[in-house]
Amino acid sequence: MARPADQQFGGDWTERKLDALAAYLGKYTTALSKQPFQLEYIDAFAGTGYREIAEYREGPGTSLFGETADEAMEKYLEGSAARALKIARPFHRYAFVELSADKVRKLEQLKSANGKLAERIEIVQSDANTYLAARAQENWIKAGRRAVVFVDPFGMQVNWHTIEGLAATKAVDLWLLYPVSAINRLLSRSGVRFDSWRARLDRVFGGPAWFNAFYKKTPAQSLFPSVEDARYEKSIDIDGLTAYMVGKLETVFAQVVKKPLVLLARNQTPLFALCFAAANPKGAPIACRIAKHILEQ
Ligand SMILES: C[S@@+](CC[C@H](N)C(=O)[O-])C[C@H]1O[C@@H](n2cnc3c(N)ncnc32)[C@H](O)[C@@H]1O
Repeated sequence: MARPADQQFGGDWTERKLDALAAYLGKYTTALSKQPFQLEYIDAFAGTGYREIAEYREGPGTSLFGETADEAMEKYLEGSAARALKIARPFHRYAFVELSADKVRKLEQLKSANGKLAERIEIVQSDANTYLAARAQENWIKAGRRAVVFVDPFGMQVNWHTIEGLAATKAVDLWLLYPVSAINRLLSRSGVRFDSWRARLDRVFGGPAWFNAFYKKTPAQSLFPSVEDARYEKSIDIDGLTAYMVGKLETVFAQVVKKPLVLLARNQTPLFALCFAAANPKGAPIACRIAKHILEQ
């Protein structure tokens, strides 16, 4: 049996994230409504369009309000794509990108259910990095186009080069869910255990420079100084990781909100930092002012 009270509780940080996004999208299309730009919303990790609560998923046949629990929850909890379609002044174009074929099918249903807006929606089954890298090659400024891009992964799927590409368009406002907790878990006290984890972190940060930023070298304390682990000590915490990403965003975007929203798990430990960055030098100050205000609410 599904547990509605728990759904509400466990979903608080997701709701907070989606509320911030939806508030920004509404203000964005309103603020730019008198401008000649073509406005696009790109949801790079779109999911199904509805919020899924994997923890409380039930098999078919479990009845809640006469339907399966899955269906009932999906109807009740809207995800980023469904929310983006509900804003008062719609975007000219929507791109919903999703890797999973099953979820793409659900996005297609969302599209069909959206009447007139459907013709503005493109659903793409793709890896988000591949898709965004290709879109970043377009000449957005020359074409008079602007976009809000929402990058909402479960974990460390987003490569730094993807983010750099978006910044280089000079046309994108980015909402980025940065997985501080997942990254922190890979950073053991005395180093990163596996080469595959290091490689993943290299992709997240666009090279190996993170290591010297996160670890300081300590004099070997072991009788066997050749043991590599004994020579490094972790010198960064979650706040530091968040500040590090803000600093990196600032190297490529016109302006960044300095204090991202830290999203907390049930036990109050940080899970993600919701970051905002604006690429267009002219639009960035107002965009960041709006985003900052939303994040502080
Ligand atoms: C946190 S969920 C997105 C939730 C969605 N934004 C919402 O608010 O409803 C992450 C989604 O990304 C998809 N995904 C995972 N890896 C991906 C990738 N490399 N490219 C695109 N989508 C991916 C997953 O299938 C999952 O649906």
